[in-house]
Amino acid sequence: MSNVVIVGTQWGDEGKGKIVDLLAARADLVVRFQGGNNAGHTLVVAGKKTICHLMPSGILHEDKKCMIGNGVVVDPEVLLEEISILEGEGIRITPDRFYLSEKAHLIMPYHKAVDIAREKAKGKDKIGTTGRGIGPCYEDKSGRRGIRVLDLLDAKALEMKIRENLEEKNFLLTRFLNAEGLEFQPIFDSYMDMAERLRPYISDVSMEVDLATEKGEKILFEGAQGTHLDIDHGTYPFVTSSNPLAGSVCTGVGVGPDKLHHILGIVKAYTTRVGAGPFPTELTDETGEYLQQKGAEFGATTGRKRRCGWLDLVMMSDSIRYNGLTSLSITKLDVLSGLDMIKVCVAYQCDGERLNYMPASLERLARCVPVYEELPGWKEDISGADDLNKLPGPARDYLEFIEEETGVPMSIVSVGPKREETIEIMELFR
Ligand code: GDP
Ligand code: IMO
Ligand code: MG
Repeated sequence: MSNVVIVGTQWGDEGKGKIVDLLAARADLVVRFQGGNNAGHTLVVAGKKTICHLMPSGILHEDKKCMIGNGVVVDPEVLLEEISILEGEGIRITPDRFYLSEKAHLIMPYHKAVDIAREKAKGKDKIGTTGRGIGPCYEDKSGRRGIRVLDLLDAKALEMKIRENLEEKNFLLTRFLNAEGLEFQPIFDSYMDMAERLRPYISDVSMEVDLATEKGEKILFEGAQGTHLDIDHGTYPFVTSSNPLAGSVCTGVGVGPDKLHHILGIVKAYTTRVGAGPFPTELTDETGEYLQQKGAEFGATTGRKRRCGWLDLVMMSDSIRYNGLTSLSITKLDVLSGLDMIKVCVAYQCDGERLNYMPASLERLARCVPVYEELPGWKEDISGADDLNKLPGPARDYLEFIEEETGVPMSIVSVGPKREETIEIMELFR
């Protein structure tokens, strides 16, 4: 038995989906544990692109079970839409392979309305959220007024909870946020309708994972977002509202830490960020533009252009500490082909000090100047490489440099978006 946790080490979009899809071939089940449809995980299989927002990225492997844990916030409309798209493509989504936690919290229409209205009210100071209602839903969860998946199965309870919440949300929307209020009946009717369609999948995911464990099945826990978007340890307040760290598998699924055997950190070979917030190694010049274009760096959820910059090993050292990473997967190495020289940030210079961590104060972080090491680039197209020895010398040196600086071994290198454009160095499932 061995389980693998996959987490993003930067600000999301590191290529987690591709690696989950790849490793799912050797797992028995894939479980999401936090976030919601703010995530956009791209899989490219047999020339076809699939973007998973809520469905675990193992869903294309029809013999694998996929689960959404209690730590995820679920927009039922998006989930049903995703199910119907996948079914339209011939993927079987049946209750013997897809499980939705009864304890997961539901994203309601008023969460989306509040998310959008709050961002509008913040004007230039906005976070740049995905507008999917993620923050307001987690707020209600912590505020103990959330509506859970299991409430869909009790019409009376659902009615009462929607009415109570709407009263407060409509006050907030109309009296404080200058937005339109929402009506009870259409929300109730549509959620009752969706309840019937979701009913077959609603389960106790913690128990299902436990049963799988007893049978010796291998589990892949799929993180969304990235370490530096973490509500506690990220660049607060420019973060998401959940904990994308490996530790939140335990609370987001209902398993003990003894079930987390290997923690794989996904590291894009450079850095990107969608939305606002600090980004010490950001490139606003033609190299940044080059990475954006060559890496096709557009948000998989909102279509926004991603900001691009050099790899930041200061961020990485925090990510290793917060997650307990046991190996790294470097993705999008192919995007760096064609650059004469590649920079890597190895420390920050701040107020006369050399730092190897990201300061919690954004004012202090703003005064940090990256200290770079320069490495030679390479010109060759590397997307066909299936072995480290087939990479040009400078590309191998780049990987070795990351491994030496971080002290964490590399298990997988991704050299293109397709499943097969991958170099596997280490077997993660024992
Ligand atoms: P995720 O949110 O971490 O799953 O990442 P996204 O799917 O949002 O963004 C990663 C993007 O890079 C997607 O368009 C992937 O198809 C693509 N991608 C993943 N790995 C590679 C790679 O090694 N090379 C290239 N060129 N693209 C990749
Ligand atoms: P995946 O799983 C990149 C960012 C948003 C915004 C901030 C808060 O595809 O890596 P939210 O809607 O969560 O309240 O927005 O977090 N963000 C992501 N950025 N990838 C993601 O997911 C993200 N999910 C949220 O852009 O800056
Ligand atoms: Mg993404």
